[in-house]
Amino acid sequence: SQFASVNQEACIACGACNSAAPDIFDLDYSGIAGVIYEGDKNRGITAIEQDLHEELQEAFDSCPTHCIQIAAIPFA
Ligand code: F3S
Repeated sequence: SQFASVNQEACIACGACNSAAPDIFDLDYSGIAGVIYEGDKNRGITAIEQDLHEELQEAFDSCPTHCIQIAAIPFA
């Protein structure tokens, strides 16, 4: 399984993650990204389905500040 969470302290609101994986990442009113997949609310506790793993990796690779975190176990 894969779980994801954005370190929002390091996000510079570039939007690349949302472009690469709009089903996983969205931006709040100030442009800061979070994981919105299945109501995760950036907690990193929702397993992301296999079909989206490629998009998730693209988002991870595209983030200029490396603030997207991916793990095999839930973050909380
Ligand atoms: Fe922020 Fe990185 Fe996305 S800077 S908007 S988490 S690509």
